[in-house]
Amino acid sequence: MRKSIILISGVNGEIGHGLVRSLYDQGIRNMIGIDLSMADDFVLERTEDCLIGNILDRNLLERINAQYQIESIYHMAALLSTRAEFSPVIAHEVNVDGTLNLLDLAMEQAQSHGQTVKFFFPSSIAVYGIPNLEKKTSVGAIHEDDFRYPQTMYGCNKLYCESLGDYYSHYYKRLSAHDSSGLVDFRSLRFPGIISAQTLPAGGTSDYAPEMIHAAAKRQHYSCFVREDATIPFMTMSDAIRAIHLLMAAPQNALTQMVYNVKAFNPSAGEFLSIVKTYYPDADIDFIINDNRQAIIDSWPADINDDQARKDWGWSAKHDLDKAFSEYLMPEIRSRYEHN
Ligand code: SER
Repeated sequence: MRKSIILISGVNGEIGHGLVRSLYDQGIRNMIGIDLSMADDFVLERTEDCLIGNILDRNLLERINAQYQIESIYHMAALLSTRAEFSPVIAHEVNVDGTLNLLDLAMEQAQSHGQTVKFFFPSSIAVYGIPNLEKKTSVGAIHEDDFRYPQTMYGCNKLYCESLGDYYSHYYKRLSAHDSSGLVDFRSLRFPGIISAQTLPAGGTSDYAPEMIHAAAKRQHYSCFVREDATIPFMTMSDAIRAIHLLMAAPQNALTQMVYNVKAFNPSAGEFLSIVKTYYPDADIDFIINDNRQAIIDSWPADINDDQARKDWGWSAKHDLDKAFSEYLMPEIRSRYEHN
């Protein structure tokens, strides 16, 4: 008998950390991680094993396939949007081919043990592309089916992988005699920018908000790379992880979509700085605009509509902007930077 496990790719990344923390706190002890680099102690102590390797390495995935029985896959490994613009082909390989490999692993597993494998895929507001600022301000909160014209390689990759998830869940090899529909249960959230109290993102374009608050807490200078009026939705890491658990726990027949918007608050960069300054009045933060990164933020929605997630599986964010600071960010960030 192969040992039953939960597989987490990109386990050493930001969402990987948040996920490992909360699954461990729920008593889950059978997590196997994969990451390009050695996972840190926090992750190592909470997982059964962490494999150092690439999701593009089919031999590695084959070894996992042979050794374990996979219940569910949380596929967090990705090259984020800014990083991806510097290496679009590599981004495509990691973000698309890597996802395809893991979907294929999920299918192979489900076919061999006969049980559905749940697959969580973090999609992004980067799948949206709004043509200009005028439209961005006039259009309001956008629905899942609106403006799916991504302007970044990362956004293209995420949008296509949503379709791959649909294919593996419903239409896989539909011409063969064998019916594989339902063997993979793909579920996805289009996340806004995520702000963690514990970790910093690497290579994203929404990074300015988390970078601002962490720099202020460390008493470091920070130059925000987007204009003060730049606006996209954000949420706390703790809400992002809650959303993943709620979606993954929802009964399949309650889900009317495979991919849902989720949001919490959407301050402009200037408004975000004002709140940072209420906690750190001496914060040394200025604005030096990077036009190219600004253009990416301009193409992402100022607001998204998450009514369907509320309706289907009871989603609502715990942290609005004020609570994000008072109940989540500040207590954790203070204890992290001020007691060391
Ligand atoms: N946070 C991501 C990025 O900035 C968007 O999903 O790339």
